[in-house]
Amino acid sequence: MSDDRLIVALDVPNVVAGMELSQKLGDAVSFYKIGLGMLTGGGLALANELKSEHGKKIFLDMKFFDISATVEAAVRGVAQFDLDLLTVHGDPHVVSAAREGASGSDMKILAVTILTSLDRADLDGSLIKAGDIVDLVQERAGRAFDAGADGVIASPQEAALIRALPEAKGKLIVTPGVRPAGAALGDQKRVATPAQAIADGVDHIVVGRPIWQAADPRAAALAITAEMAGK
Ligand code: C5P
Repeated sequence: MSDDRLIVALDVPNVVAGMELSQKLGDAVSFYKIGLGMLTGGGLALANELKSEHGKKIFLDMKFFDISATVEAAVRGVAQFDLDLLTVHGDPHVVSAAREGASGSDMKILAVTILTSLDRADLDGSLIKAGDIVDLVQERAGRAFDAGADGVIASPQEAALIRALPEAKGKLIVTPGVRPAGAALGDQKRVATPAQAIADGVDHIVVGRPIWQAADPRAAALAITAEMAGK
């Protein structure tokens, strides 16, 4: 019944709320994203429980960034748990260190190119080189793939451009900012529908509030998987 192209962002405060939500979703959802906000609320324990006792796939959204040795050690630590996807920032030294840390495990490394919350003025403030964000995203994605990333996180606007890169062959594109038609946008500005994202070459969509804030989260998840399947 579930479709693992849908990843539900468990952006709830703690393990108890996360477990309750996953129970409501039941077999409608097979893939969960656990992020930094949940880490201090027992996120890693929840990830392990969902994986080992409930057979769910897990995307740990940690966005690591540090010197190579530290990234490698951190990723090696995470790789002892049987998780599926982990994010790091897309700087080539970070990605290759993460690849090294993940060696011997099946965990895939996803690179964040440029945070979609940043605009050109933010990049100027951080002394990032001139140019359109979309061009920089494409360039960083190509470099992350060359450094060994298994995939990238991309906004719906960037997905098709990244999919067109020769380096993206066989790589994953994972896209947040997905909203079913008519759903509230929240703070997401550049959105696509589930069907559009899949048509643009996205492998997994990450959806949070339209599911966990819904009166019936299971029905909301099923509606999204039906839309992805073109029903
Ligand atoms: O509630 P919503 O569907 O907007 O949740 C999307 C999820 O994807 C959240 O966990 C958010 O932090 C994450 N995310 C995002 N945009 C990015 C990177 C991650 O929305 N660029």
